[in-house]
Amino acid sequence: MELADIGMIGLAVMGENLAMNMESKGFRVAVYNRNAPGEEGVVERFMTGRAAGRNFIGTHTIEELVSSLKMPRKIMMMVRAGDPVDDVISQLVPFLTLGDVIIDGGNSDFHDTERRVKQVEDNGLWYISTGISGGEVGALTGPSIMPGGSPEAWPMVSDILQAIAAKLDDGTPCCQWIGRGGAGHFVKTVHNGIEYGDMQLIAEAYSLLRHGLHMNLNQLVDTFSEWNKGELESYLIEITARILGVKDADGSPLIDHILDVAGQKGTGKWAVMTALDESDPLTLITEAVYARLLSALYAERTEASRLYATDQTEATPLAVTPEEVRQALYAAKLISYAQGFSLIIRASNRYQWELDCGTIAKIWRKGCIIRSVFLQKITDAYATNKGLENLLFDTFFREKISACLPAWRKVVSQAALRGIAVPGMSSGLSYFDGLCTLHSVANLIQAQRDFFGAHLYERTDQPQGTFFHTDWNGVGSENVSTVYNR
Ligand code: 6PG
Repeated sequence: MELADIGMIGLAVMGENLAMNMESKGFRVAVYNRNAPGEEGVVERFMTGRAAGRNFIGTHTIEELVSSLKMPRKIMMMVRAGDPVDDVISQLVPFLTLGDVIIDGGNSDFHDTERRVKQVEDNGLWYISTGISGGEVGALTGPSIMPGGSPEAWPMVSDILQAIAAKLDDGTPCCQWIGRGGAGHFVKTVHNGIEYGDMQLIAEAYSLLRHGLHMNLNQLVDTFSEWNKGELESYLIEITARILGVKDADGSPLIDHILDVAGQKGTGKWAVMTALDESDPLTLITEAVYARLLSALYAERTEASRLYATDQTEATPLAVTPEEVRQALYAAKLISYAQGFSLIIRASNRYQWELDCGTIAKIWRKGCIIRSVFLQKITDAYATNKGLENLLFDTFFREKISACLPAWRKVVSQAALRGIAVPGMSSGLSYFDGLCTLHSVANLIQAQRDFFGAHLYERTDQPQGTFFHTDWNGVGSENVSTVYNR
């Protein structure tokens, strides 16, 4: 029997479509999926269905899968993040031989990945940890792929991963080496955080247009379609226009029948937790995660909306234009990406991943959920200045934010007056104003800390790093707290 080029473990939506994508690019793929108790043969269903007559090998045990592969073996796992990944690794390792490569293509926590890379390498094997974005269609037709892990294994898998990835107009695959250890999964985590931010901002714009300006669904479809022809052009704006045009069975808008409780599988939360670990103010994405959590408090929202009822439907339209809403969305989006890349830089320094921000923005240009024309501006910004500390210092960002700022302030303040929640747009604005404030109120916070806990403060007229205490309470004690930041 002709051996396969790669093995695929896990034939759920993403695994199955990635396997189909690989086969369509000329690779022979061996597939395996365990059967849950009572479940009918998943592999049989696939082999007699979509895989019929194509270049696949169906296997029924891990051992059979391993023995159907060319050496050195390459095996991709597309299983649920968490314990199932560790389970599959421990089932695989006894059957593999030195130099084989295990690939985790799921949305794993990068801390787990850091551990697994070491564990797998200690067994004489290689580990590729790769973020894959694009949803089920992307997996089939060309996703964005963010591979990290064992650098030694990258040349062994790059032909397959780059073949199945989306391509830029110049043919560059949206799959480039990210970095060692958990770097690939970390970058996917930030991608997903940005995805949360984009989705929240678009939802806020929708809310302002629909509830604030009383636009009907047809007008909304036209507006988002129009926005998708300009600087906001992106997959998420495109699908928003399409979603708003879909009707339910009775001809009414489907969107009005969808319960307003947002789910989340955890990657947005991980981005936020990592930002906290890195002391990085990832405020907009954090608000997007909180907005989903708030949406899930359905019973409490029902009660609060009764107790504090505001009637948005009867109100006169907000004193803003759709164009001003668009500018507020765009400006806040710029902040969200600036924050996301700031987190990338901080984590890269901490873990010594040497992440290349320009390349990351480049491979997000196509294939992934946050794909957009705007990402090119980020690649350009880092091409101009590789050491750029904050994207907001780049000329393009500065000019765009300055141009959108009056509309952004107006939209946020009008929304506040009307009681329309815009946590993404407003937290982005507060971050921007905080960043641009030379003399902030943190002096008062330092004074308060020193007052009640002798936590010391630095002075404006002395070098940073020299600490002082005032005997605010007249206690006269020389005993002060030590200085440390967590
Ligand atoms: C992608 C997506 C994907 C994500 C789902 C669900 O890049 O293809 O980010 O990986 O897991 O969209 O995400 P939530 O359930 O957290 O919204």
